[in-house]
Amino acid sequence: MKILLISDIHSNAVSLRKILDYEKNIDKIICAGDHVDYGLYPKDVLEMIEAYNVTSVRGNHDDHMIRIWKQISQGIEQNEFKWIHHNADILEQRDIDFLENLPKTISFDIENVGYVLQHQWKENSYETIQSEYHFDQFWAEKYTGNLQGDFEKRIIFGHTHRQGIHYVANDKLWINPGSISYRRPDDPTKDAHYMILQGEEILFKQLPYDKTKLMNEVMKWEGKIKKSDMDVALFFFSENE
Ligand SMILES: [Fe+2]
Ligand SMILES: [Fe+2]
Repeated sequence: MKILLISDIHSNAVSLRKILDYEKNIDKIICAGDHVDYGLYPKDVLEMIEAYNVTSVRGNHDDHMIRIWKQISQGIEQNEFKWIHHNADILEQRDIDFLENLPKTISFDIENVGYVLQHQWKENSYETIQSEYHFDQFWAEKYTGNLQGDFEKRIIFGHTHRQGIHYVANDKLWINPGSISYRRPDDPTKDAHYMILQGEEILFKQLPYDKTKLMNEVMKWEGKIKKSDMDVALFFFSENE
């Protein structure tokens, strides 16, 4: 079975489309949350997530979107205009319902490997699991699969936008595919990061994609979007030198 593992799409329908066209013979797609905010095409992203029957969880930016969208629909005045408000103007009730219906945590088994999928370990934190003790605690709380005895236990996180695999013991690891859209400031690479899980293998992937369409759209919002939000988009959607 070939699994495409993505996370932190952040309304980047262009990189998502590129990955879906590039990766062939995918049996299952898993997403670790943060579908919207900080990007340009939230509706297209949610349509693809639904169309491809992606196994997905709700991230903190998805929660933030639900909150802001409801505020706006209740007429509560917003004192700034960021990508979250730009996205909220595009999304409709059914999109918000879709986000709201996403679970915070999912657990499943694939080919004798147990999985728990959750956007982040702790609320309001970028902390990640370092010890076997915390791994076991998390696993006991969240795993609802059917495997018994010795089997590989994998936790999937997103949120940090940092691609990596962290083993805390034999057969106990958490993996993070990184973001298909944004890096953190100390990592200025602009490719789409994701992973392919196939058999025993976990492949790190970094895929370049054309950002012209994103950049052209971003430019239309100059002077309207709050500068800090604008600067992030301008940086990541400009082409690599
Ligand atoms: Fe994120
Ligand atoms: Fe997040």
